[in-house]
Amino acid sequence: MTQVNNHVAVVTGASSGIGRAIALMLASEGMAVYLLGRSESRLEQLADEINSLGGKSYVYALDLTNETEVADFRLHLEKTYDGIQVLVHSAGAIVLNDIQAASIEEFDMQYRVNLRAPYQLTQALLPLIISGQGQIIFINSSAGLMSAKADVGQYAATKHGLRAFADSLRDELNSKGVRVLSVYPGRTASAMQEEIHKEEGREYKPENLMQPEDVATVVKTAINLPSTAEMTDVSIRPMIKLKSD
Ligand SMILES: NC(=O)c1ccc[n+]([C@@H]2O[C@H](COP(=O)([O-])OP(=O)(O)OC[C@H]3O[C@@H](n4cnc5c(N)ncnc54)[C@H](OP(=O)(O)O)[C@@H]3O)[C@@H](O)[C@H]2O)c1
Repeated sequence: MTQVNNHVAVVTGASSGIGRAIALMLASEGMAVYLLGRSESRLEQLADEINSLGGKSYVYALDLTNETEVADFRLHLEKTYDGIQVLVHSAGAIVLNDIQAASIEEFDMQYRVNLRAPYQLTQALLPLIISGQGQIIFINSSAGLMSAKADVGQYAATKHGLRAFADSLRDELNSKGVRVLSVYPGRTASAMQEEIHKEEGREYKPENLMQPEDVATVVKTAINLPSTAEMTDVSIRPMIKLKSD
């Protein structure tokens, strides 16, 4: 097993859903976890929870679409550490609309959060990740793998782009000892999925969906693999139970 104790992790989207579950898991593995998101109060809440469980975390509130704030975060880390071991990109945004109606502003917003921000943050932290012999994990989506359905053209385009970025990055970084994983979840209970259900006019039953902790379990397995192995792409979807009623 890879020894993760005393390692440093950075998790975007830590204030909610999948990113939150991943941050909790990494802290329980003994890593010091940087919690990134815009909502300082929700990040503080998570830090308190991690603290009460005996873990270590740091709140760093920022807007990932703001280049200056991302650059400042890089400077902060460079002053504090020689290397980091895990970078998880979980921050994301979705707007459902058909292409005739979807605005270019909505497209730009999803592009900036889902693709441009992971690109900039990864680029900024690469020297630290390489020296930490780290692992970069992209929380993509089943929408980044399959043929895009109606009303998700903008979101799916950003997630297909994220897959291409991750693949190219892996090819460039493996020889430097860095591993790159893309996780492609299906519907997972979270604030984002609740909003999607609302827009689709469907009843939201989180218990019938995959749980954020299920996605965190995939990440846990990946970071604990021996360094001789790399998990590259994982598709994970809700288990459909056949009901007689
Ligand atoms: N839930 C699903 O069914 C599902 C399925 C497939 C893939 N995914 C992907 O999984 C990832 C996590 O989604 P989720 O379901 O956990 O969604 P969520 O609960 O809505 O969480 C989204 C996170 O992104 C952060 N974020 C959004 N814009 C940001 C910005 N400009 N700067 C900094 N942080 C920002 C939010 O933090 P703040 O609001 O505090 O900024 C929040 O922590 C996303 O990439 C999503 O595309 C989700």
